[in-house]
Amino acid sequence: MSSDTFLASKRMSDEVKADLPLHPEKYTMLTGDRPTGRLHLGHYFGTIIERVKLQNLGVTSRILVADYQVITDRDSTEHIADNVHNMVIDYLACGIDPEKTIIFNHSAVPALNQLMLPFLSLVTESELLRNPTVKAEQEASGHALTGLLLTYPVHQACDILFCKGNIVPVGKDQLPHIEQTRQIARRFNERYGRVFPEPVGLLTEAVEIPGLDGRKMSKSYGNAIALSATPEETAKLIKKSKTDSERFITFDKENRPGVSALLTTAALTTGRDEVEIAAEVGNEGSGALKRYVTEAVNSYLAPIRERRAELEARPEYIREVLHEGNRRANEIADATLAEVREAMGMVY
Ligand code: TRP
Repeated sequence: MSSDTFLASKRMSDEVKADLPLHPEKYTMLTGDRPTGRLHLGHYFGTIIERVKLQNLGVTSRILVADYQVITDRDSTEHIADNVHNMVIDYLACGIDPEKTIIFNHSAVPALNQLMLPFLSLVTESELLRNPTVKAEQEASGHALTGLLLTYPVHQACDILFCKGNIVPVGKDQLPHIEQTRQIARRFNERYGRVFPEPVGLLTEAVEIPGLDGRKMSKSYGNAIALSATPEETAKLIKKSKTDSERFITFDKENRPGVSALLTTAALTTGRDEVEIAAEVGNEGSGALKRYVTEAVNSYLAPIRERRAELEARPEYIREVLHEGNRRANEIADATLAEVREAMGMVY
C-alpha cells in the first residue's frame, strides 16, 4: 500500500473516531475472526476491548466467526465446531452482549456468500495478485495459492457489505482488504446504482501485546496466553518463557525481547508502566519478574475466566446465541441480496 493511500486511510479513520461518540447511530461495525483456536491476550488487547467499547457506545455491531476463511490455507476443518463454540464463549466472557451484537457464521448465511459472484466480476486478476497480505499469508502457510486464499479479500467485502458495514476495526495489515472492499462497493454502485456504503477501516491504536518470546503473539508460535487457559497453565507458560542471563531487569525491547515482553504483559494487565515495574523487580531477576507477571495476568483474567466457566456449563445457551445470530444475519443478508437483484435487473 502506498504511503498516500495509507495517509488517506488514516485521515478517514481519525475523522470517524472523532465523530463516533457524537453520532454512534450512523455506524455499523463488522469484524470477525477465523475460528482456528482459542482467543488469546493478543486478540483481547488488540481488538476485543475495542469491539466491546463500540458496542457499548451504541454502534450497531456484528461479529463474524469466519469459518470459510479457515480453509483459505489449510486442508482440514478438524475441531472447527469446537473452535466456533469456544469462540462464542470467549466473546461473551469478554463482554460482547448478544442482545446488542449479532454473532454469526459464514457457512450459515447463504445470501452473504452469494454476493461473491457479482463482486468477483468487479475485480481483476492483477488486483487480486497485488494484495500484499494474501502474498504474505500464502508464503507463511507453505501452501499453494488456492483460489479461496486469492479471493478471500473479496469474500471479506461480502462480509462487510452484506450488512452495509461502514466501519471495520483493523490493524494496518488489513488495510489493503478495506481498500479492495471500498473499490468493490464503488464499482458496484457505479454500474448498478447505489446500494453499498464505502466502509472505513478504523485503525486501532491497539497496544500490541507481544508474545512471551517478544514476537507477535500467535498460537502457532506457542507464545500466546489463551483467555481459556487455567491459572496453572498460564503459570507454566510464563515460567518456561525465554529471558536472558542478565540478572538486573530493564525494559529494552530491542536487546531484551523476552524480558521486555514480560514487562509489557505485566504493564497491560496492571495498568502500570513497564519501566516502573522493571525498576521495582530490579535485582531480583527474571524469576521474580515471572512470578509478578503470572500474578498480574491471572488476576486480570480471573473475572473473564469465571464468566467463561459459567458459560461453558451452558452449551445449549451458546448454541442458541449463535442460532439467533445466524437467523438475524440471514434476514439482513436476504434483504441486501434482494436489493442487489433489483439493482442488477435480476428480478424475474
Ligand atoms: N481476516 C480476519 C482474521 O484473520 C477475519 C475476518 C473475516 C474479517 N472477514 C472479515 C475481519 C471482515 C474484518 C472484516 O481474523
